[in-house]
Amino acid sequence: MEGKILVTGGAGFIGSHVVDALLARGEDVIVVDNFNSYYDPKRKIQNIFPHFQKKRFILAAGNVEDYSFMQDIFQKYNVRRIVHLAAKAGVRASIEDPVGYKIANIDGTLNLLELAKKHKVENFVFGSSSSVYGNSLKIPFSEDDRADKPISPYAATKRMSELLCHTYNHLFQLPVSCLRFFTVYGPRGRPDMAPYIFTDSIYQGKAITLYGNGSTKRDYTFVSDIVSGIISALDTPHSFEIFNLGNNHMVSLQEFVSVIENVVGKEAVIERKDLFPGDVTLTCADISKAQKMLGYSPKVSVEKGMQEFFSWYEKEIIFSV
Ligand SMILES: NC(=O)c1ccc[n+]([C@@H]2O[C@H](COP(=O)([O-])OP(=O)(O)OC[C@H]3O[C@@H](n4cnc5c(N)ncnc54)[C@H](O)[C@@H]3O)[C@@H](O)[C@H]2O)c1
Repeated sequence: MEGKILVTGGAGFIGSHVVDALLARGEDVIVVDNFNSYYDPKRKIQNIFPHFQKKRFILAAGNVEDYSFMQDIFQKYNVRRIVHLAAKAGVRASIEDPVGYKIANIDGTLNLLELAKKHKVENFVFGSSSSVYGNSLKIPFSEDDRADKPISPYAATKRMSELLCHTYNHLFQLPVSCLRFFTVYGPRGRPDMAPYIFTDSIYQGKAITLYGNGSTKRDYTFVSDIVSGIISALDTPHSFEIFNLGNNHMVSLQEFVSVIENVVGKEAVIERKDLFPGDVTLTCADISKAQKMLGYSPKVSVEKGMQEFFSWYEKEIIFSV
């Protein structure tokens, strides 16, 4: 396919890995990112710095919710495919700033859909979230389950964005795949997420706070598995589909802490608090649809993945300062 691939949020954790993979196979990539300060923007620059001199790489710093900024990009470059990952991404922070989340996540997605329609984009891949399932008790979560009881503003913005994706497919035949990511971790991982916070605290001998009684469970998914799912979705346009991208393996918080203790070689000091409002109690992905239609096949266990995360953490966070 000719033309460029727009990766929004391409300087972030997942986005920068997607950009690496696309450039490695010779694609032309445009990154749009606003380098917001939710966590240190220097990290985001570092994530994409190796590509700055490459001919096939373009960086445009700005907001996806800024329509005229985004329109200029579509007028200037031949955008043929889109991986839309730019978003305010924290569940807990969304409770403090619901309006900011609505603007970045819903208005931003709507701008991209509108421009994708106008410029007859060939494929639109949207980064959604397992949080849309809310506190569903039906395990594993399947794409056919109702997802109409989000329990955080963040989750509601992701579900609303999926609905807008559906509308643009229905009205304008825009091919869209919405990918629901399940707790992604790995090198360059976000410092507001448990894999990073726990590793950092255990390494430094600081106490970690476990919300709930340790029995909450997550389907932790290594970033390279997520990237392969995103690339498959980009390569195989569908009319409109939603896919779970998880590891299909639930790990309790207690087990997860043990994995990190083994990797770091230190024992955790644990403090307990009540479950945080907005946090779901468990997530588990039914990945059979993605397996069948995208050839998705997660390969990395939590033990191996956290080992890789720790190698990155030691090299880039501890020894680089
Ligand atoms: N990491 C996970 O476990 C996870 C799980 C489910 C869904 N997701 C979704 O995947 C996507 C990527 O998440 P991530 O973990 O890499 O987070 P991230 O914060 O590292 O990446 C998001 C990037 O988007 C940029 N951004 C934010 N708002 C923007 C805006 N208005 N305009 C332009 N750029 C903007 C940020 O600067 C950042 O670089 C997000 O949409 C997130 O909601 C992530």
